[in-house]
Amino acid sequence: MRVPPPQTRITQHGIFRWVDRSVVFGRLSKLCGAMDSGGEDDSGIEQRQAEALAAARSQARSELESVFSALYPPDLPEEDGMKTSRNERLSKGYQSIALTYGEVSATGFSDILAKVQDSYGGLPEKDGVFYDLGCGTGKPVFAAATMHPWHRCIGMEILGDLHGICLKALERWEGGLRHKVTVGETKGGAAEIEFVCGDFTVLDWSDGDVVFANSTCFGDDLMKKLAQGAAALKEGAIVVTMTDPVPSPAFEVLEETVMNQAGRCATTCYIQRRVAKPPPSFGPV
Ligand SMILES: C[S@@+](CC[C@H](N)C(=O)[O-])C[C@H]1O[C@@H](n2cnc3c(N)ncnc32)[C@H](O)[C@@H]1O
Repeated sequence: MRVPPPQTRITQHGIFRWVDRSVVFGRLSKLCGAMDSGGEDDSGIEQRQAEALAAARSQARSELESVFSALYPPDLPEEDGMKTSRNERLSKGYQSIALTYGEVSATGFSDILAKVQDSYGGLPEKDGVFYDLGCGTGKPVFAAATMHPWHRCIGMEILGDLHGICLKALERWEGGLRHKVTVGETKGGAAEIEFVCGDFTVLDWSDGDVVFANSTCFGDDLMKKLAQGAAALKEGAIVVTMTDPVPSPAFEVLEETVMNQAGRCATTCYIQRRVAKPPPSFGPV
């Protein structure tokens, strides 16, 4: 049986042509695997699979950039995360290095989320919950919601002015943008998006399936507190941190890789999985 080339399965909706999730997150290989080779050898099929997946990924990345530029219009400098964070820290006299600002890039973050799925099957098919601890202006939350049919995507941010930008972006999302994207089968995406203004070390995120923290500047104390919170996650939950892994034996590092951030800086990124809870005799994790 001959099926159409995978590229023809890319769907088009509204201003964004969104790539079917099955293409973006790897089921393409199963689809292609089911094709009749028509005399083609395995290496030819594999090459076509790889090329189709690379094309789909490339399109998904550029479309995610379109989503970002509609959510965060460049002509609204008052919604710039870097400046907003700096101004709030200066005006309130906050000196903690942990509050240093930086942002993911659409491409860098989408590559990591794709890796979590392709290499580790880490994105749940149903009822998945995504958290960003220290979400800034909310970019990883919207990126996640645009790329996978989560049940909920939640961003937690301690600085009130950055949280305010998240809420403005959420208004744009709910006020029309959401319905221009299709995630998997669902127009508008399935995820309920929520932004919480507060300190993630005292908030509950124990129901997370995938938890992200752009944690380069968090420092040892905050990373220890992050590890304490992460100990409450279910077995198999994925935690992605930057520069340092979660300091806890309850996590195994699946991969040390690199994420391209906004401003083109590349940062070490750890993809980790919550392992079975250690026995009580192990002590606190
Ligand atoms: C490097 S920025 C990352 C922003 C966003 N996650 C991204 O990657 O685009 C880190 C953010 O964590 C926030 N943050 C630091 N400590 C926090 C805490 N204890 N609770 C909540 N947010 C925190 C900072 O204010 C900052 O906005």
